Amino acid sequence: MAGLGQEWQWWKTAVFYEIYPKSFSDGNGDGIGDLDGITDRLGYLADLGVDAIWLAPFYPSPMADGGYDVSDFCDVASDMGTLKAFDGMLSRAHSLGIRVITDLVANHTSDQHPWFQDSRSSRAARRRDWYIWRDKPNGWRAALTDESAWTYDKRSGQYYLHLFLAQQPDLNWRNEEVAFAMHSVMRFWLERGVDGFRVDAAQCLAKDPEFRDTPELLTVPVAAVNDQPYTHEIISGLKKVVQEYGDDRLLLGEIYVDDAAAVSRYCSPRYREFDLAFNFSLLRSSWSSEEYASVIREVQDIFEAAGAWPTWVLSNHDRPRVRTRFSGSPDRARAAFTVLSTLRGSPFIYQGEELGLVDAVVPSELAVDPKGRDGQRAPIPWAGHWPHEWNGILPRLPFPPESVSLNVESQSMNSESMLSFCRRMLRLRRASEALQIGCLELLEGPDEIVMYSRKSGLSELITVVNFSDRIIDMTMPGEWQIIVSSSGGGEQSRYQGVVPPETAFVLELSPRAKA
Ligand code: GLC
Ligand code: CA
Repeated sequence: MAGLGQEWQWWKTAVFYEIYPKSFSDGNGDGIGDLDGITDRLGYLADLGVDAIWLAPFYPSPMADGGYDVSDFCDVASDMGTLKAFDGMLSRAHSLGIRVITDLVANHTSDQHPWFQDSRSSRAARRRDWYIWRDKPNGWRAALTDESAWTYDKRSGQYYLHLFLAQQPDLNWRNEEVAFAMHSVMRFWLERGVDGFRVDAAQCLAKDPEFRDTPELLTVPVAAVNDQPYTHEIISGLKKVVQEYGDDRLLLGEIYVDDAAAVSRYCSPRYREFDLAFNFSLLRSSWSSEEYASVIREVQDIFEAAGAWPTWVLSNHDRPRVRTRFSGSPDRARAAFTVLSTLRGSPFIYQGEELGLVDAVVPSELAVDPKGRDGQRAPIPWAGHWPHEWNGILPRLPFPPESVSLNVESQSMNSESMLSFCRRMLRLRRASEALQIGCLELLEGPDEIVMYSRKSGLSELITVVNFSDRIIDMTMPGEWQIIVSSSGGGEQSRYQGVVPPETAFVLELSPRAKA
């Protein structure tokens, strides 16, 4: 949108798209998604209407936690490409107007990382204090396993802390050398030209200095969070590094806590920490008008009070896909996408969400993730013909169900498909100042309807969602035109006072009524 003021940094009007590289697209036929595969598909993402991509880790990793156990922060895993391939991908993305943000796994490393190898080698090791070592464990439990967050290291006779898997020892951010090392990692990627970072598990960065494990502090990752003032200091340190490269690089935080107010605290401009933080409240909501309305109201109020800009997420690589959560209903998935792309805040799309995919069914002998997250990490079907443009060696995980029809190729040819619908939605968003920056007001309606307006200057759009499985009669003052309908019916015609079941409309005052 041209002509917006300086406070409208690109990330506020951008549509983001999360790529989980291993399962996105395979450039060399070895069955593993890679950076060249991403480069090949950037045109597709530009057509879809994506402004920025976030890449989940593609770094060298023993893959104990899907790549979030990094053994070298400044390289590319050999099965996903090279630094040269990264540079090629980045410059192609930039030439298409797509920004690229990468994952900064700042809380922990792989146990195979040279820093940890050194740290565990002896109590006198140079990097001993880069990790968190104690003679006795406390009661903290690890997030991915619910077992103790401490593992005994025989050789050096102490326990090390890992808030996730034992293969992911936590870094000790109270040691200045750790901060310095991680800042150098950031500069490495900023120099290459990345547009920012998504900081993984940021709520965990500082731990309670007294290692208390009283009941309120017992559940990890809460134990590590309890709003440690030092976590905020660490994040403002990260922000300073990003700012060395100008005001145009984004620092986005994953703050995995339930409380929207706590999340907004991390991205309030008052504190110069994150520019954006994930707001997972829709990811946690079921298909219910009550829940949607209360989440929209709450996030709106809380973020506004903090002066922070919200984000919206329906799915990601950690959670079952939105359509899976909504009992497999394609109608609900379309209606939810309408909400995602018309709310006030930056939307994040997870790869395949635009295809209306459900999770793959992964038999236990093929499972790779310790937390059962393989279903949402299944390979993206690019074409109708099996193996859906994964030519050569087959990917390790099975394809999602319905790949024969729900692939990119078939959906591109069908104007009624989810993909075509998403393209229309994102085009509308990009063209509309009201949707990008306008204020949001929840409107009163029947119980099973959620309805809100987006307004900027003279332009106003209204989103109406019917969460029930019945037709709902609802008259509106004035004469309205349906510009988008998630069920396809009635698009570009006059709104007749009825909303079909599980359908979302975007309405605009009829040109006649406006005049
Ligand atoms: C984040 C990632 C998740 C990973 C965890 C530990 O929550 O999204 O995939 O398991 O951090 O790194
Ligand atoms: Ca490959």
